[in-house]
Amino acid sequence: MKFYIKTFGCQMNVHDTRRIEEILTRSGHESTTNPAEAQIALVNSCTIRQKPWHKAISETGRLRKGKLKGRSEKDLFVGLVGCVAQQEGENVFDLLSHVDFVVSPDNYSQLPQIINDIVLEKKQVAITGFSEGRAEDFLSIEQVAPNEVSAFVTIMKGCQERCRYCIVPTVRGPERHRSSAQVLEEIQNVVSKGVKEITLLGQKVNAWKEGNLVFSDLLKMIDKVEGLERLRFTSPHPRHMTADVTDCFGTLRTLCESIHLPVQAGSNRTLKAMGRRYTREDYLDVVLRLRSARPEISISTDLIIGYPGETEADFQETLSLIETVGFTSAFSFKFSPRPFTPAEKLDDNVSEDEKSSRLSRVHEVINRQEMAFRESLRNSELEVLVEGQGRMDNQLTGRARNYQIVNFVSNRPLSEMIGRLVSVRVTEVHPNSLEGELV
Ligand code: 5AD
Ligand code: SF4
Repeated sequence: MKFYIKTFGCQMNVHDTRRIEEILTRSGHESTTNPAEAQIALVNSCTIRQKPWHKAISETGRLRKGKLKGRSEKDLFVGLVGCVAQQEGENVFDLLSHVDFVVSPDNYSQLPQIINDIVLEKKQVAITGFSEGRAEDFLSIEQVAPNEVSAFVTIMKGCQERCRYCIVPTVRGPERHRSSAQVLEEIQNVVSKGVKEITLLGQKVNAWKEGNLVFSDLLKMIDKVEGLERLRFTSPHPRHMTADVTDCFGTLRTLCESIHLPVQAGSNRTLKAMGRRYTREDYLDVVLRLRSARPEISISTDLIIGYPGETEADFQETLSLIETVGFTSAFSFKFSPRPFTPAEKLDDNVSEDEKSSRLSRVHEVINRQEMAFRESLRNSELEVLVEGQGRMDNQLTGRARNYQIVNFVSNRPLSEMIGRLVSVRVTEVHPNSLEGELV
């Protein structure tokens, strides 16, 4: 049967979607990007805030419309997977009678069987719950496409940090760490098939450990993999950015000079209320250590705006932190109360208007810093990993080590250039990318 997957949410979900594609393809199904020709339509959902939750739910409705348009009711099966699947379980069927199956992230290997049963028995099923974290409970990359030069590798899953606003511990379960042997094997395998850049994935990626080994030990082992050019990780928790980890940015060949380090707020009062377990000063100390290890490192972050009890003075502290650190980009969202979280019970007392006003002030500062950072790269030479065709016919595109997208003219075809590291001099600065010429 043909299947279609719509993905919402974080890189973890993007990675999971690729693994679902592999699982279903291996069991004889065929992937399609056109929902109208699919017999199985999956929505890989996110519930981090109410908006993505809503989007996922309405997407199942949109697919149902496709289902009814000129087709019989049971000629398309709609499945909800991802974090909303774990959050809602069987309740989904009360909410949405047109959904045929619900499968949470730790149960994707059962998808072929579930789909078989659904097709035969036409009875709704919900499979949720968490795996134990054994080797087979982590989904490895099975196939590397010719144009896949950058890949994600999961090193841990789940989170037990219990930040008071966050639903992730409920939907992604307790922390389970993958063995270094298994991580290295997967990396060696994909690198031997042409992958040049690895991004280590985990909800609290730098909390990884195995016996006496800690995250920095894993980074050092991966750095030695022959053929690997670049290493990144997401998302780290500031509390686990110990000196051994920040030092790696100065010593490891492959570790790129860019990091996404969620801070959430700049005021110690708000950080404490959120249960973040670090102070503004602790965070600034991490930044100082990162910068002394690698002065040119670019730092991006996540911010929650209008957390219950956040005053104008607290918010000013967030603005001043953004400037002090000099974040080069940020994902910033208004606080959104989530079920099963302690913050849901708090008085959501910052008005919608106030949240909007604070959010736009954050955007303004971030945009200014982002443009200034790109401007500072004008005329510089950047190492670019060629990843695909640019927007223009004669253009190729890739990312610099600092994560900036760089487009450049090439008279050689993509097939010859893909996966190569080239040197590009920046000639133009655009709102979302850089443009340059091959050196
Ligand atoms: N409301 C708003 N933003 C949230 N995030 C997590 N939970 C919430 C919430 N309840 C944001 C955090 C996190 C990112 C993935 O999503 O900034 O780092
Ligand atoms: Fe969304 Fe968090 Fe789930 Fe990722 S782990 S899909 S951000 S809820």
